[in-house]
Amino acid sequence: MTDLLIGDAAALRALPGTGAGPRAVVMTMGALHEGHATLIREARRIAGPDGQVVVTVFVNPLQFGPNEDLDRYPRTLEADLALAAEAGADAVFAPSVAEVYPGGEPEVRVTAGAMGARLEGAHRPGHFDGVLTVVAKLLHLTAPDVALFGQKDAQQLALIRRMARDLNFPVEIVGVPTVREGDNVALSSRNRYLSVADRASALELSRALLTGKAAVAQGPAAVRRAARAVLDAAATAEPPVVLDYLALVDPADFTEVADGHTGEAILAVAAKVGTTRLIDNMPITFGTGERS
Ligand code: PAF
Repeated sequence: MTDLLIGDAAALRALPGTGAGPRAVVMTMGALHEGHATLIREARRIAGPDGQVVVTVFVNPLQFGPNEDLDRYPRTLEADLALAAEAGADAVFAPSVAEVYPGGEPEVRVTAGAMGARLEGAHRPGHFDGVLTVVAKLLHLTAPDVALFGQKDAQQLALIRRMARDLNFPVEIVGVPTVREGDNVALSSRNRYLSVADRASALELSRALLTGKAAVAQGPAAVRRAARAVLDAAATAEPPVVLDYLALVDPADFTEVADGHTGEAILAVAAKVGTTRLIDNMPITFGTGERS
């Protein structure tokens, strides 16, 4: 398995392209699970047998706030290599912090702009600047034709698309739907932090989203109300679901949609359960009328 592993940028540069098919990259922070496996399998499908699939594993300090979980973030490289190989990766680039940031914290960064200051950005100042800076660096280092990201991090995906467009990155960005467990909890590397009781409360996030989505025919206000009612009740669960935000936003810029909105929207939630902060979202399409 370790023959997949590439630890430094020079070795990555020396990795021969196949010349016969596209290179697809899947960027991760490790602690890989079935959601990542789905991304890697999709990358393999896009690259084809003649292309190349590169997975990156790097816990990026730049995107963690001072009181966040950088130190306890799970690091499981051996298991990650096995999962990546099984899902069809040709190489796993797992650099050290010094390799990615040889000059220490970078002076010059990518700024996520107004969209990056909303929702997640409002609760995690600087988070998306850190994400976009490392994604830009990893795109330069891996030089892919296609890069795949999960829709679970919907705001991140929208910002990466925007960065690629605004800054002319020669790469196609592909979003891959969220993978859920049988009870609809979204897969996340942070789910490993959850106790059995936490896991039961965490279920309320996807339940709120599904309950909101079921009210789509009544329009945005009803969707917000329905989802909010589930989360209000979950605030008294044990352990409680402590809400950061519930928002119904335009996927183009993550501003709240108006009550008469038609077309695509994203219902997004972030909350703390025990000591774990979780996010989830669901795409919702509002029709053009016949509301009562
Ligand atoms: O989604 C993630 O795992 C990270 O934010 C990413 C895109 C790998 C950048 O560190």
